[in-house]
Amino acid sequence: MIKGPFWNGTLGLKNIYKIKNSKCLIVARGIGQAPMIPVLKHLHSNNNEVIVVLDNSPYSNSFVNEYLEKYASKIIQCNTIANGRITEKFDEILKDLISNNDISLIHCDAADVLNYELMKIVEDIDKSIKYSCCNNAKMCCGEGVCGCCTRINNDLKLRRLCKMQTEPKYVLEGRRMF
Ligand code: FES
Repeated sequence: MIKGPFWNGTLGLKNIYKIKNSKCLIVARGIGQAPMIPVLKHLHSNNNEVIVVLDNSPYSNSFVNEYLEKYASKIIQCNTIANGRITEKFDEILKDLISNNDISLIHCDAADVLNYELMKIVEDIDKSIKYSCCNNAKMCCGEGVCGCCTRINNDLKLRRLCKMQTEPKYVLEGRRMF
């Protein structure tokens, strides 16, 4: 049986809904290119200019080219992460993009280790930039009942990620990544 969609595939949705007539940056890695599409389309429909940093790893090619051509203003290919750390090249690109563009929102579709690393860097550079990312929780019931999607971080609070819409920071901070 296939059940879904669960409608909570993005953390920080309110940030995405709010942004209009602005510049946004999306970072997508590997299979994260798939959940990027609705975010890219939504930002574009609200008259935002969207720059995409694309990391195809572990695939050799991108499978979302037709969407990128239609909705992205600029595409930068880059290896974003190696051994759990953001690559020097990506760090350089990121700092350059943020300092030379008035970026209002950064969205990341990748594994949580990259979602988290990027969130910390963005916070360090400019706290006023809004942040959102994909929700990587494994879901089962989608109703907040079975406990499959629950996560407890260092603060010992229980998060049910199928039902709870929240900021990425509340989910990623204090979590064991490795
Ligand atoms: S998927 Fe069952 S509680 Fe979230």
